Amino acid sequence: MRLVWATDIHLNFLSDAEVLAFCQLLERQRPDAIALTGDLAEAPSLSRYLLAIAAEVHAPIYFVLGNHDFYRGELHGVRAQMAELTRTDSRLSWMPARGAVPFGGSLLIGQDGWGDGRLGDPEGSRVELNDWRLIRDLAGLERAVRLAKLRALGDEEAARLRPRLWDALAHHRDVIVLTHVPPFREACWHEGQVSNDQWLPWFTCAAIGQVLAEAADAHPACRLTVLCGHTHGAGTVQIRENLVVHTGAAEYGTPVVAGVLER
Ligand SMILES: [Fe+2]
Ligand SMILES: [Fe+2]
Repeated sequence: MRLVWATDIHLNFLSDAEVLAFCQLLERQRPDAIALTGDLAEAPSLSRYLLAIAAEVHAPIYFVLGNHDFYRGELHGVRAQMAELTRTDSRLSWMPARGAVPFGGSLLIGQDGWGDGRLGDPEGSRVELNDWRLIRDLAGLERAVRLAKLRALGDEEAARLRPRLWDALAHHRDVIVLTHVPPFREACWHEGQVSNDQWLPWFTCAAIGQVLAEAADAHPACRLTVLCGHTHGAGTVQIRENLVVHTGAAEYGTPVVAGVLER
């Protein structure tokens, strides 16, 4: 079975005709399922674009959200909307709400993740993300408060992933995890290199990385495959013998297929 994967498609930068062309590109890959690893659009248009993909692509769509999906919105509202969409539309699955889905011989799970300000140099970084203006929960926060909030968001994501991942590995030898933010420094590809300490804090979710590494170590007979995006740079890294992370390529305005997994 073919899992066709795309990430950081940022459909809000495309015309309706370009969105349609991207859907046709997905369809041409003969997908048995679609995996989308976040930054699909922005909060006000997210549902509309998801429904547009579902109308064109004849395969179930499994997705997680990225930071951009909350732009011009707030965390709770967008998540509630995606949970409702998942409940009412069988074609669309926001993975934190859907839970685990069998795919071929493997099990598919997903958690959004968050750049959690742990790796690199969060205190010294001069990077200013649009997240901190455009996501209501993060706007207007004083620097130290914001960093604490980002770490709490990463911890929350990791706490949700942990039981689901361990349960998956108890019953399946092959587990695919969808997430938005690269969970390891080594997976944080940007323009062919690992990001520097200025960007790493916002380009990695260390809390989720810890959960993944612990789970892989505790289940040596199982294989874990992680699909992520966020940095828009492509790369693959073998973190453990049984834990591989694929970071998908992306370019604003030109969504592509990041990969196809056969299971
Ligand atoms: Fe992105
Ligand atoms: Fe992102």
